[in-house]
Amino acid sequence: MMKIPENVDLKNMSSLVTHFPDMLGWFMPSEEILNICKMYHEEGIEGLCFVGMGGSSIVGQYISGLLDKDSHFPICVVRDYQLPSYITKGWVVIGVSYSGNTVETLSCLEQAEERGIRIITVTSGGKMQQDYHKYPMLLIHGGLQPRAALPLLLGAILPLSETLVGMNRTPINQIVEELTASAKTWGDWIQQPINVAKKLFQKIPIFIGAEYMRPVAYRAKCQMNENAKTMAFSSEIPESAHNEVEGFHDKAIENIVPVFLRHDNEIAQVSLKQDVMIGLYQDLGLNPISLRVHGDSRILNMLLMTHYLDTVSVEIASMRGVDAMSIERIAELKKRLSKSR
Ligand code: PA5
Repeated sequence: MMKIPENVDLKNMSSLVTHFPDMLGWFMPSEEILNICKMYHEEGIEGLCFVGMGGSSIVGQYISGLLDKDSHFPICVVRDYQLPSYITKGWVVIGVSYSGNTVETLSCLEQAEERGIRIITVTSGGKMQQDYHKYPMLLIHGGLQPRAALPLLLGAILPLSETLVGMNRTPINQIVEELTASAKTWGDWIQQPINVAKKLFQKIPIFIGAEYMRPVAYRAKCQMNENAKTMAFSSEIPESAHNEVEGFHDKAIENIVPVFLRHDNEIAQVSLKQDVMIGLYQDLGLNPISLRVHGDSRILNMLLMTHYLDTVSVEIASMRGVDAMSIERIAELKKRLSKSR
C-alpha cells in the first residue's frame, strides 16, 4: 500500500478532489489476493454481488457499469440489510465498508457467511476488519471520507473484479496519467467546472445518464447532497423518457436543471433520444445542460465525468459557504440508531 502523499490535506474535500486522479493508484491488491480471485474464476462463478452503502456502494455500481458488457455472469449491488435469495453458494460477495462498521453491509456479510458464499472484504478497519480476517481482505488507507475514497476503492477493487470475470487488467497507471492530463485542460474541451457550478447554484439538478453513465449520474447526485448540501436527483435514459418527462409542469420546475452526461460513443438510439429530450426541455422553458466527454475508453469517460462533477460539487459548496467535508446528519442518524439498538 502506497503512503498517502504529504501534500494531500485529508481534512479538505477540495484537496481530496484535486487528488482524484492519483488516488486511483494508491492501492494495488497483492498477488496473493489476485491469485485467490483467479482460483475463484477457474472454479466457476455464478454471479458477483457487491454489498455496501452510500459512499462505499458506488464502487460496485462503477464496476458493474465497466464490466457488465463482458461478464458472463451477473454483477449486482445490494444496498440493504438482506441479500436476495438468488445469491447462493456459487456467487462471490464483495463487502465494501470504508469504516467497517456499517450495519447493513455487516448484516449482508453475515448472511453470505451463513450461505457458504465466497467472501472478499474491503475496508479501512472497524468490525469488518475484526470479524472477517479469515477471508481475503483489502485493508485500505483510513482517514478519508468514504465518498472521497471512490478512486482509491476503484483502483483497489477493479483488478480483483477483472480477475474474477476473467478479463485483462486495466493499466491503472496509464488511466492516472490520462486523468491528470485531462483535468489540466478543462476549459478547452469542456467548460470550466466553475461555470457549471454557477448555473447550478441555488438550483436542483437532475443528473441524467445512459448506459455506463448511469452510476456517474447517481454519484453526482450524491456528491451534490453530501458535499454541496443541496437537493439533487439522478435518472436514466431511456427510462426517464417514459415517465420523468411528464413531471416538468407548473412553477415547481423553475429551479430544476436537467444535466445530461454524455460521451462520443453513445449508441445511436440513446444519442437520438437525448438530443430530442434536450430540444423538448428547451421548448418547455428549461435550461438543460449537456456535458460531454470525448474518447472511447469506458473507464476514462466515467472517471473524467466523475472527477469533473466532484469538482463542480465542491465549487457549489464553497459558493454556498458550507463545509464540503462535514456529514453531520449522517453521523447524527447513525448515533441515534446505535442508541436505540
Ligand atoms: O458518505 C458517507 O459518509 C456515507 O454515505 C457512508 O459511505 C455510508 O454511511 C456507509 O459508511 P461506510 O462507507 O463507512 O460503510
